[in-house]
Amino acid sequence: MPSCKIAPSLLSADFARLGDEVRAVIAAGADLIHFDVMDNHYVPNLTIGPLVCEAIRPQATVPIDVHLMVKPVDRIVPDFAKAGAAIISFHPESSDHVDRTIGLIHDCGCKAGLVFNPATPLGWLDYTIDKLDLVLIMSVNPGFGGQSFIPQALDKLRAARTRIDAAQQRIGRPILLEVDGGVKVDNIAAIAKAGADTFVAGSAIFGTPDYAATIAKMRAELAKAG
Ligand code: DX5
Ligand code: ZN
Repeated sequence: MPSCKIAPSLLSADFARLGDEVRAVIAAGADLIHFDVMDNHYVPNLTIGPLVCEAIRPQATVPIDVHLMVKPVDRIVPDFAKAGAAIISFHPESSDHVDRTIGLIHDCGCKAGLVFNPATPLGWLDYTIDKLDLVLIMSVNPGFGGQSFIPQALDKLRAARTRIDAAQQRIGRPILLEVDGGVKVDNIAAIAKAGADTFVAGSAIFGTPDYAATIAKMRAELAKAG
């Protein structure tokens, strides 16, 4: 699957050496840098913001994929666009005006993604999918790295794949189907078979000593899933 993308999540990187970690994981074959933003309000954890995004930007020679777990969303979107985000994704529950937020992300020059928690129905795609560049299916409840993959995400990925294939035919441009949470070498093939093409992995990559070897193993599994 040459079109599959691996997006290491910095949440599991060594924050004291973040620039080095970004360089290392790109040298190891990362296609995107997944940047988790948590506010201790929408999710029960607090992480990094636009200043850190800007600080890693010179090291990030691949697109920065910002996953906003914050409420409200709109105030912070332009800051991330200025800080170098290529993609900005948000949860529909965290915006009072989902369509407006998608438009705002585009107006800021970024690609827009909508994120689905394990209990969030795909119905949010009914009137948004034609405007989206990415759909992100959470396979854990957001807030922490290192959680176990929730198997029901596979059904949701299949359903999202069907919607995306139809939308791509209609609009004639690609929409990525990303999965986030508990993605490992030993389940990535099954996740790909369910329709995902973009794989966030935090602990599975940063928790191993050799990032390149881990990413290579993931790609070998993806090739098997074919
Ligand atoms: C969870 C974050 C994830 C997290 C994934 O809320 O959105 O991106 O870093 O971590 P792993 O891959 O360890 O489950
Ligand atoms: Zn994430």
